[in-house]
Amino acid sequence: MSMDLRIKIGNKILPNPVGVASGTFGYGGEYEKLIDLAKLGAIYTKAVTLEPREGNEIPRIVETPSGILNSIGLANVGVTRFLSEKLPALAKLPCAVVANVAGATEAEYMAVVERLESAAQLWGYEINVSCPNVKHGGMAFGTDPQQIERLTKKIRALTKRPLIVKCTPNVTDITVIAKAAEAGGADAVSCINTLVGMVIDTAAKRPVLPAGTGGLSGPAVRPVGVAMTYRVSRAVSIPVIGIGGIMTADDAIQYLLAGASAVQVGTGTFVDPSIPVKVLEGIVEYCKIEKIASIKELHSRFSQP
Ligand SMILES: Cc1cc2nc3c(=O)[nH]c(=O)nc-3n(C[C@H](O)[C@H](O)[C@H](O)COP(=O)(O)O)c2cc1C
Repeated sequence: MSMDLRIKIGNKILPNPVGVASGTFGYGGEYEKLIDLAKLGAIYTKAVTLEPREGNEIPRIVETPSGILNSIGLANVGVTRFLSEKLPALAKLPCAVVANVAGATEAEYMAVVERLESAAQLWGYEINVSCPNVKHGGMAFGTDPQQIERLTKKIRALTKRPLIVKCTPNVTDITVIAKAAEAGGADAVSCINTLVGMVIDTAAKRPVLPAGTGGLSGPAVRPVGVAMTYRVSRAVSIPVIGIGGIMTADDAIQYLLAGASAVQVGTGTFVDPSIPVKVLEGIVEYCKIEKIASIKELHSRFSQP
């Protein structure tokens, strides 16, 4: 029995459920010589902003037990260079190319999406709402459900392409955020983004990252990601994409059993770039042994606690 790996999101199909997470895979081309990119379900690009961004002062990454803490500061080439230099090569791949979009104001998010709409090769958008909202005192968009719904509605009006809202775990109840994205017209939600953390250099008596705090990712956050995916999957009726600490097929299967329709591998690719491909092969193998024909069937096999 062969498994149906395709996943429908909005009006389009992902060829398989395993993608690579935004910010951990550059613009794809960086990994061309290391793995067969054609085997990926989707590449979620580094966040694209209206103008190029240099990002934060170094060091931007520090290791933590079973993870890393990063404060990259959304360093990226900006939408103009993304369209002219990065997207043409990415678009030749058979996998879906999803642009991760970031901004400091609603207008910036909208301007980026408007520019990206001109690129026929783009599959869809993942909206990174974990950005400080400059107009509202710097509080992240992603922590206020009303802002999420309004932003999602505004972007929805600009595009028919699949629209994924990426939920931050740095809130009291992530289901409220996911429901706001659904109400705004999102086709899917992805969760989770990184968790806020701090590492202190005790000799220097200051945080290791010049920005103070950073975002925690890697295996340390996986149980949090699985639990949030489980809760969000039951709160919304759109597909959920599970992210956080996936290193093996078994990790990804946990997310799928919890209710995710697809997954993303992030920090894992820093350890071994072939992890996303191995994860996909492992999911197929598991489903073959368990005689599971689709991700939907995998969901139905989960025993509720
Ligand atoms: C170095 C680094 C840069 C990241 N940049 C982005 C980004 O630009 N946009 C975004 O939505 N998420 C970004 N993320 C979050 C990841 O996409 C992912 O949600 C998170 O790291 C959890 O998955 P993981 O444990 O597999 O890495 C970044 C993560 C890391 C480690």
